[in-house]
Amino acid sequence: MKKSVRMAVLPVAGLGTRFLPATKAIPKEMLTVVDRPVVQHVVDEARAAGIEHFVFVTGRNKGMIEDHFDNSYELEDTLERRGKLKELAGLKADMLPTGGASFTRQQAPLGLGHAVWCARDIIGNEPFALLLPDMLHHTAGKGCLAEMIEAYNSHGGNHVAVAPVPDDQTHQYGIVGVKDRAAKVSQIIEMVEKPPKGTAPSNLHITGRYILQPSIFRLLAEQEKGAGGEVQLTDSMIRLSQSEPFFAVRFDGDIYDTGSKIGFLTANMAYGLGRAELAGELKSEIERLLKR
Ligand code: G1P
Repeated sequence: MKKSVRMAVLPVAGLGTRFLPATKAIPKEMLTVVDRPVVQHVVDEARAAGIEHFVFVTGRNKGMIEDHFDNSYELEDTLERRGKLKELAGLKADMLPTGGASFTRQQAPLGLGHAVWCARDIIGNEPFALLLPDMLHHTAGKGCLAEMIEAYNSHGGNHVAVAPVPDDQTHQYGIVGVKDRAAKVSQIIEMVEKPPKGTAPSNLHITGRYILQPSIFRLLAEQEKGAGGEVQLTDSMIRLSQSEPFFAVRFDGDIYDTGSKIGFLTANMAYGLGRAELAGELKSEIERLLKR
């Protein structure tokens, strides 16, 4: 019988050099899109998909993430005494259930494959979700990971979310070739990490959402260096795809790379416009600025 996907890994060890000086003292995952930290948006997506346990792969100076998901007794007490019950209920709803989060450290920045491998003992022998927190997947629908879990529940195996990118950007991502381009869920026939310009098998990029079998850890353990001299997750996925099925789940919503300045600013506008209480005023402000 297929094991269900209960656990998610979030690699949050990156230094955030693209966002200095903002990220000198603040983890990049704690920068806010509207009023929620980026990492909270990603946890929201995973909880909506039914994830019960979160494994954060952290690094130095990331303690704030741990505090964010913990109880804040003084704050809650103050809110209660001041009658700010709506804010209090919001904080409580965002807190992860007791025992529902684990933190482990990636001690050196050796690449995404290495970060995922750091979670192996906590994950054990279960399939797990992997969410790259920089990448926000925005949709009015049921959420990217929820769609993937649905696909996993019918097909089993391993899954990556994919979406098209302009041809001149394929060299920046993991790229997959699929059997049936028109299908929502299709078997993957080819995978390559950051193909040199002009060599990509398609324009479908890996968007940063995965469901992987624990057999990936045995391959990651070999820690061979790939593109950019880093231990690449995609390289181990290519090897795993020789013995296990791999599927691409097409994501049709909007994706924002909040690790880039334009992606971050656009995400703030998009998520702001998606909030009923902010949309009207924000739209007029954007229009006013555009008229200058
Ligand atoms: C990583 C993955 C790549 C994926 C990308 C999505 O690359 O290795 O396959 O397409 O995330 O953001 P990175 O952005 O860490 O270079």
